[in-house]
Amino acid sequence: MRFDIFTLFPEMFAGPFGASIIHRAQEMGRVQIALHDIRAYATDKHRMTDDTPYGGGGGMVMKPEPIFAAVESALRAEPPAMAGPARTGVSLQSPVILLTPQGRRFTQAVAQELAAHERLLLICGRYEGVDERVREHLVTDEVSVGDYVLSGGEIPAMVIVDAVTRLLPGVLGDPAATSNDSHATGLLEYAHYTRPPVFRGWAVPEILLSGNHAEIARWRRQQALRRTLERRPDLLKSAELTPADRAFLETLSYK
Ligand code: ADE
Repeated sequence: MRFDIFTLFPEMFAGPFGASIIHRAQEMGRVQIALHDIRAYATDKHRMTDDTPYGGGGGMVMKPEPIFAAVESALRAEPPAMAGPARTGVSLQSPVILLTPQGRRFTQAVAQELAAHERLLLICGRYEGVDERVREHLVTDEVSVGDYVLSGGEIPAMVIVDAVTRLLPGVLGDPAATSNDSHATGLLEYAHYTRPPVFRGWAVPEILLSGNHAEIARWRRQQALRRTLERRPDLLKSAELTPADRAFLETLSYK
């Protein structure tokens, strides 16, 4: 999978992309990340990337020309063949995504949808906004990481790269590792424990030490249901629930 990121601050990405899973995915050749400095595509002598808004008002607006030039130049350059299993189906035109608080909300389902593409192009907005012609004629999708305003799209782009990369086959050691994640199943994940069996007098639930895998699976499912009910009851409305799940929720007085 290839990510092309368009930003005025490429130096922001070194830390998050230089460690842990994203670093390893790049080393494995599973992921390639190209950072494109929008300023390098400004043509005037001051290398201007923003300007005052037509119609007045405060703030600055990112100019369209350098953004179009940067994205079009990346689209013209053929990305090198990537390592990893051949993909089938889904991958159509590479999405050109603008990170903006006005976009559709990023969720685990959106991460899964984006992970089906071979290539994603991510444009990081800054200042008051981006000239509307970028949205109208260059961008194919707009994504927000939540209902709050950040100083730019760089951190949201990192969020997307992280959430998508860990879903790619071969990136996490255990292929089943993401299937029980919070949100992957529509529920929050069950509680986890590791050694020691008793820590400061607090014991690990007996059932987890029992070796009875069917009972453990049942307990975990009920934990996930209980947690979701307590913390995010809104998620239960769209989660896939079995009759046994519903019966359990009723014991917790969920209707
Ligand atoms: N840019 C500023 N705030 C943002 C948000 N919440 N999501 C995506 N991009 C943004």
